[in-house]
Amino acid sequence: MKLENQVYTIQGIPVIDIAQEFETPVYVYDADKIVEQCNRLKNAFNGINVKIKFACKALTNISVLKLIREQGLDIDCVSIQEIQLAMIAGFEPSQIQYTPSGVHFSEIKEAVKIGVKINVDSISLLEKMGETYKGTVPVCLRINPYIQDGGNLKISTAHKDSKFGISCELGDEIAAVVKKFGIHVNGLHQHTGSDLKNAKSIFEAGSVLFEMAMKYFPDLEFIDFGGGFKIAYKEGDAITNIEDFGKDASTLFHNFCLQYGKKLELWFEPGKFLVSECGTFLTTANVVKSSPHRNFVGVDSGLNHLIRPMMYDSYHEIINASNTNFSKTETYDIVGYICETDTFGKDRNLPIVTEGAIIAFKNAGAYGFTMASQYNSRFRPAEVMVVNGEAKLIRSRDTMDDILKNQILI
Ligand code: LLP
Repeated sequence: MKLENQVYTIQGIPVIDIAQEFETPVYVYDADKIVEQCNRLKNAFNGINVKIKFACKALTNISVLKLIREQGLDIDCVSIQEIQLAMIAGFEPSQIQYTPSGVHFSEIKEAVKIGVKINVDSISLLEKMGETYKGTVPVCLRINPYIQDGGNLKISTAHKDSKFGISCELGDEIAAVVKKFGIHVNGLHQHTGSDLKNAKSIFEAGSVLFEMAMKYFPDLEFIDFGGGFKIAYKEGDAITNIEDFGKDASTLFHNFCLQYGKKLELWFEPGKFLVSECGTFLTTANVVKSSPHRNFVGVDSGLNHLIRPMMYDSYHEIINASNTNFSKTETYDIVGYICETDTFGKDRNLPIVTEGAIIAFKNAGAYGFTMASQYNSRFRPAEVMVVNGEAKLIRSRDTMDDILKNQILI
């Protein structure tokens, strides 16, 4: 989207003002956008019981978690630390689904003690649950349904070579363990992948779960279809039309419940859909330099703060927030300050960039800050949320104390 002579704002506040107030680099989240996405998802289904769990690995700032809780959503956590953050943000253990991947059993026991819902992703873990709790702790089973979808292989999680879940071919083995220990299987789960190219792949995966439910699991309370809804990174991008998806999912699930003979709940756990678009990452152009071959804009950030372009070749729209005059543009590579190649965007046509300009990255809400590090011993950025037209600091920038905190000089 070309912001022709248009000031780039969040809830009416020019981002250059936010950058000036909080300095850069800074992540900025638009609370209204988060609320809008929560409502779209809540309203997309009809005639079935739906529960939405926020896959909080996408964005774990406790102020964001609290806002999402206030919208009536539950939460999906992948570590004890995420569970602790969720509870600090006010979630009850009963609202928390714990979906770990290959963690030590001691961590599972801790989660059971807290009282969250447990998602089991191996037969080995199922056996440990049986031996330890003798059927007193209900479990949900994460199934690998052998469905290939996702923006790229790194974020495709349900194909047959993926580490996630219990293979859908192992129904008899699962059933034997369940019977041996008298385990109550209360749910079946699958997560196809992230940035799904066609969300209908969730239905293909779902039908694998439905089949297993009919054959092996008569006492289910819910089926969990995971997350992965695709949002737009650039104009014209294919997206998951959530309203159409919701209609189809409602029909499909309603019919399954009739067949199953019980009205189950249908769960989803999106991350990106809820928080990707709300986020903008603001940086400052430290240096503008040209060679006979390329023009570079070097910003005061790098792969230590926003690793998605380097790790997944993700596209983030880049805006020169300090100059929106498109009558004179130049083609730039926007690069980071880390001592290795950290290109945020190649061949981007922007209004002339001068040193000191505020360079904004869109779609930075999901897997932005949560994947940030202190690489090159740099500070992690601050986080700001715009609420009711007011920009509020929700995390201060690291200081040297954060870098030194756990180091011991011997
Ligand atoms: N459920 C489970 C079990 C997951 O593992 C994930 C994401 C989600 C739900 C949410 O997926 P989403 O709706 O956000 O697509 N760092 C990568 C994405 C990794 C996703 C990991 N699992 C990225 O930045 O693209």
